[in-house]
Amino acid sequence: MLVREYGIKKIYMGRMDHGSDLLKSLEEFVIEKGIKTGIIQLVGAATKVGMAYYDEEDKVYYPISLNKPVEIAKSIGNISIKDGKPMVHLHITVSDEEGNAFAGHLTEGTTVFAGEFSIIELEGPELVREYDDITGLTLWK
Ligand SMILES: [Fe+2]
Repeated sequence: MLVREYGIKKIYMGRMDHGSDLLKSLEEFVIEKGIKTGIIQLVGAATKVGMAYYDEEDKVYYPISLNKPVEIAKSIGNISIKDGKPMVHLHITVSDEEGNAFAGHLTEGTTVFAGEFSIIELEGPELVREYDDITGLTLWK
């Protein structure tokens, strides 16, 4: 297990723009603010969703797209460094009009209907992602 310790530097509370791309907008905000390490969460609604499922045998992400309005019941993740710049890693759980839930690794292609996010910026050692041979993922080193 790899563990590092952090303190809380700042907390941002924000509202997403209607029609924006969820992941892209958050990545732009994080880069603009220079947030290198953090915890991120969001609730809201989306008009369509882009996410992915990581196939552990094939070691590739397979896209899942939902082209219907949904609640963003919960989206949670983190911010760390990948390829020298901050990367937002988010998973998302959405629900439809019957309360059915769909979930996955958030990708670009999720259009925000409305969204409220919180970002806890952390201070401490750099958290850097590197390719991991065993999983095929870029994990914290
Ligand atoms: Fe993921």
